[in-house]
Amino acid sequence: MDRTEYKKRISWYQHDRFGMFIHWGLYAIPARGEWVRSVEKMSVEDYQKYFDAFDPTDYDPKEWARLAKHAGMKYAVLTAKHHDGFCLFDSKLTEYKSTNTKAGRDLVREYVDAFRAEGIKVGLYFSIIDWYHKDYPHYGDRQHPMRDNEDYKDHAKEENFDNYLDFMHGQVREICTNYGKLDILWFDFSYGDMSGEKWRATELVRMVRSLQPDVLIDNRLEASGEGFGSLLSGNPSEYSGDFVSPEQIIPPEGILDVNGEPVAWEACVTLNNTWGYHAHDHNWKNAKTIVRKLVECVSKGGNLLLNVGPDAKGRIPKESVEILTKVGDWMKQNSASIYGCGASKIPQQPWGAITENDKEIFLHIYEETVGAVPLKGLSRDDIKLVQFEATGAEIQLTTSWTTGNYPDYLYVPVGPDAFGTYALPDEIDTVIRVTKV
Ligand code: GLC
Repeated sequence: MDRTEYKKRISWYQHDRFGMFIHWGLYAIPARGEWVRSVEKMSVEDYQKYFDAFDPTDYDPKEWARLAKHAGMKYAVLTAKHHDGFCLFDSKLTEYKSTNTKAGRDLVREYVDAFRAEGIKVGLYFSIIDWYHKDYPHYGDRQHPMRDNEDYKDHAKEENFDNYLDFMHGQVREICTNYGKLDILWFDFSYGDMSGEKWRATELVRMVRSLQPDVLIDNRLEASGEGFGSLLSGNPSEYSGDFVSPEQIIPPEGILDVNGEPVAWEACVTLNNTWGYHAHDHNWKNAKTIVRKLVECVSKGGNLLLNVGPDAKGRIPKESVEILTKVGDWMKQNSASIYGCGASKIPQQPWGAITENDKEIFLHIYEETVGAVPLKGLSRDDIKLVQFEATGAEIQLTTSWTTGNYPDYLYVPVGPDAFGTYALPDEIDTVIRVTKV
């Protein structure tokens, strides 16, 4: 991998830090998550009723884009095709697509246009797994809906996997050709021996890069949410991807390769517990959690790709809208502590988290303090100015008889007196900007 070219390609991504993941498709109708066909071992025929019923009359990607913009999300990734094989784009290689449903629309086209119009970078998720295609492994596969169905015991005799790969590569060519400049191509996912060259991954990535030279690719041509692939090996394969994608967890620390070099990563996380729309999953994370997880990702040198699962009508659930609106309110005042920031050399503190860029250090204060906030790793000579990020109001560093025993720290008072206890101005996350000399 050409490191200079890679660093150029990845720079916007490591600046922007925050993206919207969008899982949407036929599975919004059963409303039991995007794996419903596999979990309930539904045949193509059983699932056909959802294709026949799909009619998202309220689909308005401009509304989705406005919400993402308000939330401070700088990029988005929409499922162009998920594991069920249903295409939200007008593929010429299959009849199993949104333009053949009552919707009669190229949903991807409208998505890319709407999000670009709001200045948001556009990505597409593409499932390399396809439970609809006749030549994809059925019986005995790890998760195919017909994996245990005896009627499919001899299906492998009819399967021509190379034919499937020609189809899959052809569809990737379509999305890389017909929808303008793509910023992210998010493949999902490899498993067992279905990995790497099994997908003809080198050929696939070379084709993608010939059509979309600046696109960022994730690591799941050789991994899944489990395992990172060769991007951490110090000798990445041609299809290692540009970032790794830990799933439903914030990595305990940053992610480094074998040489101790930081690796680009994004934690992909749901707002409730399901990627696709789920009518009974009300386990919503609140805005405070989301803000603090975003800060945690950035403080560890990573991104957060936060998911919404629109319903069968095409609407983002109101709970998701409410959460993202509150997150956006916080971002409006504090996004300088997110965009262009990353890990700090100052050790993380019990009162919150620290993010840093080359000019400023941002203290994210979560807990009401008893006395002033102690800050290790800096001296007064390092500091030009300390302010509340939200208002710009100066904070004067302080010491008092209560801090004299601990001279190795600086003390940042949240209220008028060094030893006072004061309500934090922002109970989600009070950000203090320390401008370096
Ligand atoms: C897993 C799930 C898939 C989801 C993806 C998101 O791969 O199988 O449904 O789209 O995670 O990261």
